[in-house]
Amino acid sequence: MTTNTIALITGGNKGIGLATARQLGARGMTVLVGARDAERGRAAERELRAGGADARFVPLDVTDAASVAATAKLVEEEYGRLDVLVNNAGIALGDGARALPSETTVATLRRVYETNVFGVVAVTNALLPLLRRAPAARIVNVSSEVGSIAIMTDPGSFLAPLASVPYPSSKAALNMVTAMYAKELRDTAIKVNAANPGYCATDLNGNSGFRTPEQGAEVSVRLATLPADGPTGQLWGHLADGDGGYGVLPW
Ligand SMILES: NC(=O)c1ccc[n+]([C@@H]2O[C@H](COP(=O)([O-])OP(=O)(O)OC[C@H]3O[C@@H](n4cnc5c(N)ncnc54)[C@H](OP(=O)(O)O)[C@@H]3O)[C@@H](O)[C@H]2O)c1
Repeated sequence: MTTNTIALITGGNKGIGLATARQLGARGMTVLVGARDAERGRAAERELRAGGADARFVPLDVTDAASVAATAKLVEEEYGRLDVLVNNAGIALGDGARALPSETTVATLRRVYETNVFGVVAVTNALLPLLRRAPAARIVNVSSEVGSIAIMTDPGSFLAPLASVPYPSSKAALNMVTAMYAKELRDTAIKVNAANPGYCATDLNGNSGFRTPEQGAEVSVRLATLPADGPTGQLWGHLADGDGGYGVLPW
């Protein structure tokens, strides 16, 4: 059975993406679980279905042009449109990505950007024709407070000690990407926002985060289900001070 609302979550097989798929599925959406590994994708599909969601694994490596094109073709042929796109897939590359700027290699930078920035643009552009066919599509780019130049340069921020280029600058680029898509689409019913899930315990950070993936996913879900008078072109989510609730974050 296919529901009336079709959502695609990239990197939907674990972490915040899987939790987002679970929550959107619980709201009655058909959730297409993008995963680059078939086994992990099928396992997520099984888990979501066991929980009652109308879930379907879709093979998708956001860094692979053929894979992105195949996803767009599948969504067009099977569903004819897309209501929600959550660009959630992301990597941090552990220690390499936490190196000081002076120690950063271009190879690391390229790898992180391939997924966190170029992958988002590739997937969004491939699916935009289908998003335009939906009555009021929502695009959610899963970003981070570490992509906020204002927060990262605030001496009072808990992120003040962090000086690293690959992951933070990839999310800063993603923030600008978000703002520019929102600008291009401002006269349409499509809303484009960036999500800050906050620091969540996932494989991305060795499960060191102090929020759960479910709490992080709440932000993507809120932005994926915005009403017609909701915002576009914002970085929204958990406030950077840890427990200050939700709100708009500075770019
Ligand atoms: N955790 C946090 O504290 C935090 C904070 C702010 C923002 N975020 C953002 O939240 C998003 C989700 O991260 P997470 O914390 O849930 O991390 P995670 O558990 O490591 O999940 C990342 C997901 O992205 C997928 N992925 C990576 N590269 C991909 C590619 N080339 N194509 C398709 N899928 C790919 C992974 O697939 P595999 O299983 O195949 O690796 C996995 O499903 C990321 O954009 C991250 O930057 C996380």
